[in-house]
Amino acid sequence: MANDTALKSLIKCKVCGAGHDGSPDGIDMATHPTAKKLLDRSLEFLRQVQNLRVTPGKDLESRLNREYGPGNAYFDDFCTLLKAGLDEGWVASGEIDGPHYRRGKISHPVKESLYMSLTAVYFDSQEAFAGQYHKHPYGEINCVIPIDDTFELEGLPVGVNWQGAGWTSLGPGTHHYPRSRGGRGIAFFFLPSGRIAYDAKPDDPQPPFK
Ligand SMILES: [Fe+2]
Repeated sequence: MANDTALKSLIKCKVCGAGHDGSPDGIDMATHPTAKKLLDRSLEFLRQVQNLRVTPGKDLESRLNREYGPGNAYFDDFCTLLKAGLDEGWVASGEIDGPHYRRGKISHPVKESLYMSLTAVYFDSQEAFAGQYHKHPYGEINCVIPIDDTFELEGLPVGVNWQGAGWTSLGPGTHHYPRSRGGRGIAFFFLPSGRIAYDAKPDDPQPPFK
């Protein structure tokens, strides 16, 4: 069964060279300064999100797209730092299905991330590409970072919510194929307590969309 550790091969990290195993256990912040900057900015961002008093879901997605989209300092920093990390080799360094679909954990849910995990997935697809089916028991917050301007990631409901530069947020208990289209991009996502499950089935009932 596919699971979070089913990464086939790792891309060598230019920062720490041989022996890097940033995925699936996270990045060593002491030796990867760009990752440390990302963790620090993520903590500031998550503190603000906590003050919005909304849990992952449709309302949070709308609010993030209104207030934290392109031009917002957090969003722009996430784009810069994730793209730098991709070049450095510690972002999405584990191949799930060849070089066009890769994932890597950046941080486990720790105090410095308000107990949210930080993960990045890299997609390179022109036609709609579906990744591993999964469920978010506590929801997810997903920053969509296009590398090609045409890149989009799908939120929910399926088929009607394609998101370019900006955010998707799926509520607790939702499940889906992560789908991308339009070229290269990164999904940088936060999971409360790091929770994700790979045993959900497309026919399982979804919680009400909200
Ligand atoms: Fe997801």
